[in-house]
Parts: sequence; structure tokens; C-alpha cells
Amino acid sequence: MTFGPLMQVAHAEFEITLAPLRNADMPQIVEGLSRASVTQYTTRLGLGYTAEDGGEFFERMRKAEHVTAWGIYLRSGRETLAGVTECVHRARGPMRVGTTGSMLYDPATWGRGVATACHRARTWYLFAVLGLDALRSEHVLSNEASGRALAGIGSVRVGLQRNVEWYRGAFQHLALVECVNPSDAAWARWWGDDPVPPEFVAARERTRAALEWAEQHVTLL
Ligand SMILES: CC(C)(COP(=O)(O)OP(=O)(O)OC[C@H]1O[C@@H](n2cnc3c(N)ncnc32)[C@H](O)[C@@H]1OP(=O)(O)O)[C@@H](O)C(=O)NCCC(=O)NCCS
Repeated sequence: MTFGPLMQVAHAEFEITLAPLRNADMPQIVEGLSRASVTQYTTRLGLGYTAEDGGEFFERMRKAEHVTAWGIYLRSGRETLAGVTECVHRARGPMRVGTTGSMLYDPATWGRGVATACHRARTWYLFAVLGLDALRSEHVLSNEASGRALAGIGSVRVGLQRNVEWYRGAFQHLALVECVNPSDAAWARWWGDDPVPPEFVAARERTRAALEWAEQHVTLL
């Protein structure tokens, strides 16, 4: 099974529930993924999706191993599926490292703090509940909101892949970021005897703050 357990996430405007995706809601994802205005900041640019693609996507997600994924359901009156947030995680030697991804398919929901709240909840679940050591993520460099949302949970840029996409006459670059579990045990495993870069020392406090927020505002049902 791929999907993570139900979590309620406090938000000023919406009731946010992270929940297993429902197959019946896939048309909302298909609609969003078919819009270049939505995918312009992703590496899925320029594709159109059909109901059949949505069904296959759902089955692939449902059966994927080493993945924890949620649908992001928003309620403000009617409940809608706004997006997906996920993590692929595997053991690497004595460590468990995850690779995260997230999308909000409806531009009407952007810029309203949904990713911020969901990133905190996801990070809390992966670090405090599952005990992962670190998370890797990537975002298109020009997607400032995505970069800021990741920085907000204490992610630090560790690399840049140039020219991964071409959109409307400009190359897109992909920023690679990492977020380390701030617990003493995970921190020591991750860094070993290496000096910790100062930007990660500062980021550790942001991750701690995000986890503290989640302790107060996320309910694992
Ligand atoms: C990128 C995305 C995930 C951000 O989610 P969101 O819910 O809109 O983000 P939030 O409202 O929580 O804002 C996150 C941060 O970005 C900032 N931000 C929001 N919209 C912004 C914009 N248009 N330009 C610059 N910064 C923006 C916020 O101020 C906040 O920064 P802060 O924490 O430093 O104050 C979402 O907009 C999205 O999915 N967009 C299109 C699809 C996509 O790009 N998906 C791939 C993401 S890897």
C-alpha cells in the first residue's frame, strides 16, 4: 500500500485533510496535469492527460512500494482534491532517506499557505512518526513559491541541474535541496565526523520550528 494515514492539518481558511487518494477524484488531477499553467514548473511540462492515464496513475500509486502519499483534500463548504504530496523512501545502509514531491493542481488554491501547512505535516510524519533521517526534494528554480515552501521546513539547496526543461523560450533549471531530521541521533548519523555547513545549522532550527508547529496543529486520526 502506498497511501499514508489520515491527518488533519490546521489552516486559517480551509479544513485540510491529508488522506489516501480516491480513484473517483482522479479527474481533478487529470484536469490539472493537462494545464501548462500548472505543469510549467514541473518536469511533466507539455503533456495532456486522459481519464485512462488518471486510472493508471492511481493504480501505480496504489501499488508502489516504499512510497507514502496523500491526497490533499480541502474543505471550505464543498470538499475538493487540491493536490498530492508524497515521499519515496528507502534504506541506505543504516539510514533512511526520502525523496519528496508535491503538487497543487488548482491555481485558485495557490499562495494561500496550503503547501506550507502540508509540508510541515508531511515532514512531521516522515521524521517524528516514521523516523526518516533526511529528505531530498527538487524544484524548478523559477518556482519561487516552491523553493520558499521547502526552505520554510528547513531545506537547503545542495545543487542545481541546469537546462532540464525548455519553456516559452527559456531554459528551466532544477534546484536540489535537502532537509535533515533535527533529532540528535539522525543529525549525528547524517553528518558523521564532517563539519556541518552553517546553512544547515540555521536550517535545523527551521525544521525544529516546523515540527513543533505540527505537534500543535496536525492530528493523526
Ligand atoms: C509551488 C506550490 C507547491 C506552492 O504552494 P502554495 O500553497 O501556493 O504555497 P504557500 O502559499 O504555502 O507559500 C509558500 C511560500 O511561497 C511564497 N509564495 C507563494 N506564492 C508565491 C508566488 N507566486 N511567488 C513567490 N512566492 C510565493 C509564500 O509567501 C511562502 O513563502 P514564505 O513562507 O517565505 O512566506 C504550488 O503553488 C504549486 O503546486 N504550484 C504549481 C504546481 C507546481 O509547481 N508544482 C510543483 C512544485 S515542486
